[in-house]
Amino acid sequence: MLVWYRKGSLALGALVFVWIVTGFDMNGRSVWIKDPNLSPVNETQMFLYDTFPPEFLWGVGTSAFQVEGSQWKDGKGPSIWEYFIQSPLRAGSMTDDDSSDSYTFLEKDLSALDFLGVSSYQFSISWPRLFPTGVVTAVNEKGLHYYNRLLNSLLHRRIEPVVTLYHWDLPLTLQEEYGGWKNESLVDIFSDFAMFCFKAFGDRVKYWITVHNPYLVAWQGYGTGIHAPGERQEGAAVYTVGHNLIKTDQCPTQSGEQGTVPKAPPNEMPGAEVTHFTCQLYQEQRYL
Ligand SMILES: *[C@@H]1O[C@H](CO)[C@@H](O)[C@H](O)[C@H]1NC(C)=O
Ligand SMILES: *[C@@H]1O[C@H](CO)[C@@H](O)[C@H](O)[C@H]1NC(C)=O
Repeated sequence: MLVWYRKGSLALGALVFVWIVTGFDMNGRSVWIKDPNLSPVNETQMFLYDTFPPEFLWGVGTSAFQVEGSQWKDGKGPSIWEYFIQSPLRAGSMTDDDSSDSYTFLEKDLSALDFLGVSSYQFSISWPRLFPTGVVTAVNEKGLHYYNRLLNSLLHRRIEPVVTLYHWDLPLTLQEEYGGWKNESLVDIFSDFAMFCFKAFGDRVKYWITVHNPYLVAWQGYGTGIHAPGERQEGAAVYTVGHNLIKTDQCPTQSGEQGTVPKAPPNEMPGAEVTHFTCQLYQEQRYL
């Protein structure tokens, strides 16, 4: 009886709520009616209801080290994360197991994106998969083929690619020879890598992100040491790393439209404009 009573009150409560919100037309339509007087700065209108615009990108994202697996396959070079995780520096129970091994099972992951019905997919390019030592010389063709296949498959499925150039997996050689991001030389070396990516993939990629979460790269990588490369340095080194990471976003020109697709094919486009484009996107990312 008590149980019935409670259920009854609950049902009545829900009915009253529906009535208050919709005026009993039961299809929720009144909630979605646009109020022409809505103001974003009026505190009495804190809760705004609206539909998303059709061009809104619904998406999911990954990073290369976390999903690609196949860390030692097809000519890929080691990154600081493989080294870190296998060394005593590593914190907790991190492993570099093959995870979902997206490098091998790409089709399955693409089917998963179809299943989710997303309109965008953010992934990162593994720098050492394209250039095993980090320096832009001969590209690792198998790595290049992998990213071309990924991009073409996304576009075929009408899924917009959003590409991160650096999601923490620095080629190990650059850590050993230069001391990683502490060294300003990395800015130019990264720039060569970025330019290669713009030229190779820019005909299909509208949205680029330069460095994923530079704060964590600097602080956890070089300050606390709980992320790769696991260095525990004084503040100055951390700030130097942050400074160099920010320089990867340097804006050599003021041309180019913010947040829009570069218009000319990338091989005809001055590099400066592309860099400016990524800079704008990156600044937005930092403020969001
Ligand atoms: C704020 O919104 C409320 C409710 O829509 C409205 O009555 C009020 O006039 C608005 N105030 C200002 C300053 O626009
Ligand atoms: C940067 O790397 C070069 C080449 O290894 C080295 O000569 C130089 O001392 C390094 N600079 C810093 C600040 O570590």
